[in-house]
Amino acid sequence: MAFHVMLIPTLGCPSDCEYCWSSEEGSPVMDIDVIKETVEWLKDFRMEPVTFTFHGGEPLLAGYDFFSEALPLLAEELAHLKPAFALQTNLWNLTPKMAQLFKEYNIPIGSSLDGPEELNDLQRGKGYYQKTMRGYEIAREQDLQVSFISTFTSYSIQYKEDIFNFFLENGLNLKLHPALPSLRDDNPEKWALSPEEYGELLIYLLDQYLEHMDQIELKNIDHLCKCVFIRRGVVCTFVDCMGDTFAVGPDGSIYPCYRFVGMPEYVIGNVRDHPSMEDLSQSDAWKLLQEFKDYVDSECKKCSYIKFCRGGCPYNALSINEETGKAEINGVDPHCTAYKMIFKEITMRATKEMLGSSMGMVPDTSGMEQKAKKGIMSIMLKPS
Ligand SMILES: C[S@@+](CC[C@H](N)C(=O)[O-])C[C@H]1O[C@@H](n2cnc3c(N)ncnc32)[C@H](O)[C@@H]1O
Ligand code: SF4
Ligand code: SF4
Repeated sequence: MAFHVMLIPTLGCPSDCEYCWSSEEGSPVMDIDVIKETVEWLKDFRMEPVTFTFHGGEPLLAGYDFFSEALPLLAEELAHLKPAFALQTNLWNLTPKMAQLFKEYNIPIGSSLDGPEELNDLQRGKGYYQKTMRGYEIAREQDLQVSFISTFTSYSIQYKEDIFNFFLENGLNLKLHPALPSLRDDNPEKWALSPEEYGELLIYLLDQYLEHMDQIELKNIDHLCKCVFIRRGVVCTFVDCMGDTFAVGPDGSIYPCYRFVGMPEYVIGNVRDHPSMEDLSQSDAWKLLQEFKDYVDSECKKCSYIKFCRGGCPYNALSINEETGKAEINGVDPHCTAYKMIFKEITMRATKEMLGSSMGMVPDTSGMEQKAKKGIMSIMLKPS
């Protein structure tokens, strides 16, 4: 089984997106020594393929020299783990030289835009859109593969049609993030999307996708349909992620995921100690997330979707006890309602399609609408 290591060169970021859960002013930048120690840690850690994702904060702040040293170290010294790479960035600091380097290592790029310029800049700060689009042009000149996360908030959800059409008309592939309350924020609910709104958004996007599958890729819908089809989660939200996903912060601290980086109570080890899985599992944060898995096994046992939902994301499920100030598990992922809505919709449509075809019913393709719209099985069977 493959595993995933997120490398967070810094939590610093030149942008100041309103809802951001992960940027931190004054955050240090990772020294190349941390990469060298990461290599030593992983040499004998486990003998399975690894994917490294550079994430942040804003990873490109680490600069060209950092990446030009880090990439060969990871690729060559860990060649036995067949490393693959990915990068999540706002693209502001991308230079042609950096883009060339990323092309050499075949790195797919995830970037972030919330939709049309005015709406995007309202959520992500004035001037954001232009700076990201400049970086996007540089990436395209090097023929890099770029897709975008659009973070849907309690504000932008009113414009879901405009947002989808923006990505469709500009030929940009899309992944959506429902804005979540940040564990770091004083007013965490301000931008958060409610579970019902998120569920409705997913169903809306499923319909749009079925009409426009030839023109756009919508990763969440691909993943959700695949999960239902193979009855197993295919993204971290829907699997027991503990033990298969790690994040390394700028100082070499190891966390269960990038979302926890910078919060000392979630440190599970340090790359300099070259910890084994057994060592990492002794930490309090590991035990807390293990508690989540046990909680899901008991709370969700009657749910029809448990096999491919697994209670959702444990970060989303954490809440802070106001008396002790400590994180606790008091529920599953609060997006449970949204997951049930979309899993039900996909299951229902797939069953209807399968029944229709087993009874020999041929879809009527005489009307224009029928002709354009594909069935849900075409998403389920789409190659990854
Ligand atoms: C934290 S950023 C880091 C990488 C890079 N700076 C970027 O913006 O792509 C990764 C993604 O997380 C999203 N994000 C930030 N805060 C969030 C929140 N509270 N809820 C949901 N997604 C969030 C951002 O919009 C962005 O698309
Ligand atoms: S660009 Fe990314 S890291 Fe920076 S503030 Fe925005 S979401 Fe956060
Ligand atoms: S949909 Fe809800 S109840 Fe079902 S497994 Fe997921 S979190 Fe648990």
